[in-house]
Amino acid sequence: MRRREGCLDVYENPYYYDVAFGFRDIAKEVDFFEECIRKYSKVKVKKVLDIGCGPSPYMLELVKRGYAFTGLDISKPMLDYSLEKARKAGITIGVIHADMRRFRVKENFDFAFCMLGSLEVETNSDFLSHLDSVATCLSQGGLYLLDSGIQFDWTKLGGESWTVIKDGLVINVAWETAPLNFIEQKIMEKITLEVIEGKRTKVLKTEKVGKLIFPQEFLQLVNRNGKFEFLGWFNNFDLEQPLEEAERFNRPITLLRKR
Ligand SMILES: C[S@@+](CC[C@H](N)C(=O)[O-])C[C@H]1O[C@@H](n2cnc3c(N)ncnc32)[C@H](O)[C@@H]1O
Repeated sequence: MRRREGCLDVYENPYYYDVAFGFRDIAKEVDFFEECIRKYSKVKVKKVLDIGCGPSPYMLELVKRGYAFTGLDISKPMLDYSLEKARKAGITIGVIHADMRRFRVKENFDFAFCMLGSLEVETNSDFLSHLDSVATCLSQGGLYLLDSGIQFDWTKLGGESWTVIKDGLVINVAWETAPLNFIEQKIMEKITLEVIEGKRTKVLKTEKVGKLIFPQEFLQLVNRNGKFEFLGWFNNFDLEQPLEEAERFNRPITLLRKR
């Protein structure tokens, strides 16, 4: 993750990130998690792990439904923010300060998930090492759900902008990706938040290098890693919409199960 001189970093300002990316219907997405668990999990799910949790937008809904929540992130401010959010709600959660590309924890989880394209890898070795890390802490028969993170539509790179107005704040959000290295399949991803609070305006930015993983490459890597079964990929949080039949990709979900 690269920071710009004189500019605030998006991931070190969790509240603004939380507002800017708060467009999701979390209850509906958690309904989908539970549908996947009912249909595909071979273990009863009690403990869940949110990988690259950021401000933990899924935490309150999951805890309300009886799951024990742990968030893993490389950003300490994101974890502190999640802990404070939990404290205010009167609940207890776990946090793990670690790099998703290589981590080892003693605890075991029954369901793991990585939302909104939070799979952060720069090479195929990083991805294989990430799968190893998840495998070591996921129960046998437990699911690993990935939201986006795979480049399904390789004819174009993503980019979007939107505005959120909440609690006296106006946040203009821009998310852009640009090719960096075609042979290494690397891109530069930029997130810019322009936060307008009364008469004050702040600009927050994050720039990071990522590696595109194409669908067939993903399947080969999962196969080579050998620790997960591939169960399928689905459009827009709907098990009735396999990606093979999709005309456009919208929040594609990939499901793996620990062998
Ligand atoms: C796009 S945000 C998504 C946050 C959250 N998953 C959500 O759904 O809103 C990506 C998060 O991944 C974290 N992250 C980036 N690289 C990471 C790494 N190597 N290991 C762990 N977390 C990482 C960032 O700090 C950030 O909080």
